[in-house]
Amino acid sequence: MTTAKLLFDNQEYDFPVFEGSEGEKAIDFTKLRAQTGAVAYDPGYGNTGSCKSSITFIDGEEGVLHYRGYPIEQLADQSNFVEVCYLLINGELPTQDELADFQHRLTYHTLIHEDMKKFFEGYPPSAHPMAIMAAMAVSLSAYYPDLEDPEGIDLNIIRLLAKFKTIAAFAYKKSIGQPFIYPRNDLSYTADFLHMMFAVPAEDYQVSDVLTRALDLLLILHAEHEQNCSTSTVRMVGSSRANLFASIGAGVTALWGPLHGGANQEVINMLQMIKDDGGDHRKYMDMAKDKNSPFRLMGFGHRVYKNFDPRARILKQAADDVLNELGVTDPLLDIARNLEEIALNDSYFVERKLYPNVDFYSGIIYRAMGLPTNMFTVMFALGRLPGWIAQWKEMRNDPETRINRPRQIYTGATERDYQPLAQR
Ligand code: ACO
Repeated sequence: MTTAKLLFDNQEYDFPVFEGSEGEKAIDFTKLRAQTGAVAYDPGYGNTGSCKSSITFIDGEEGVLHYRGYPIEQLADQSNFVEVCYLLINGELPTQDELADFQHRLTYHTLIHEDMKKFFEGYPPSAHPMAIMAAMAVSLSAYYPDLEDPEGIDLNIIRLLAKFKTIAAFAYKKSIGQPFIYPRNDLSYTADFLHMMFAVPAEDYQVSDVLTRALDLLLILHAEHEQNCSTSTVRMVGSSRANLFASIGAGVTALWGPLHGGANQEVINMLQMIKDDGGDHRKYMDMAKDKNSPFRLMGFGHRVYKNFDPRARILKQAADDVLNELGVTDPLLDIARNLEEIALNDSYFVERKLYPNVDFYSGIIYRAMGLPTNMFTVMFALGRLPGWIAQWKEMRNDPETRINRPRQIYTGATERDYQPLAQR
């Protein structure tokens, strides 16, 4: 099969068909409008392949997720976040020397320019840390020029990866009115982040191994997910040749929404609401199914996964393990388990293939780690950063990249004459 035939207005048109490396078929409609005069209508781009990409493979029917060909289960079990960053951005797993060098560079670029600290002072304590993250990501471009050569791009990528976690921790410290804690070069990426988050000058803070491992797992599971809303945003902004920092800042804001990365915060708010309302989760299940109610079961459903989300499966187990290891009990975990059990046996959810997504259990682990709810989406952003970067880099190097500029079907008023105000 090399062509697809389209019968339109009594005329037949041929369009090339091609296949991805895992057998996914695509009809190339690049010339659809030029040949037929019509455009493809696909709101939400659910059927639109916006690019060719060799970074992530998802089979939503089978619950499969691969980063650069490696199953997520293997990476979650055996790798660590820094190695996954390297893999996503460079395409291959690093050798020992390559990993050591990468880690070294990530360690020695963690400081942000001292002037940038003043930006944090301008925000009210109630500012959502995602607002600060987005502004700071874009602001990095004021300090580090847009470099076009491969070495320069690589340097800015290292800077962004290294500084993003400093910015995230500073945003948290700002929100609780504590002094910023500077990065430490003797700690791993995740341990250093925890140190900047939770250390206080008056005390000797020891980074816990349990927390470091839990965080590493969470970051790996969030690291990349092909053309989701925020990643497509990064690519779209980057397609205009906007610099890396500006493109990533746009990704942060896209992630913030409650239907995307903001869902992890919403899940905890929802579970808390159910608990405060007496724990009657069945009432909320009914509301989620009621089309007259705006309530949705947050952390449920996914555009691509129609069987199960492999990340949610890993996190459900991790939530049990981490809470056990930390000796924490959380009534919200019981409510979450009950909701899941009912939903998996309820025809509304079964027929619509709605399963827990990555956000359903992640918030419970973040809570057990001592992170406040409004930092959950920041944690998602920290995890997703290497994915955004890898996609931005791939987009930049792809000779087929054109400025992203979809068409529309105009449904407004047809041409009419302007009426002066006095005659209206
Ligand atoms: N609760 C109740 N009903 C739902 C839910 C839900 N969480 N999700 C989807 N549905 C229903 C819809 O009402 C719709 O029903 P209908 O066919 O009777 O009209 C059907 O399932 C299909 O839903 P869509 O909204 O068309 O699916 P879409 O692919 O556009 O949206 C999304 C996917 C945004 C994730 C959606 O499932 C949702 O809003 N979930 C809750 C928010 C959430 O958890 N987001 C995180 C997603 S994962 C991530 O970004 C990391």
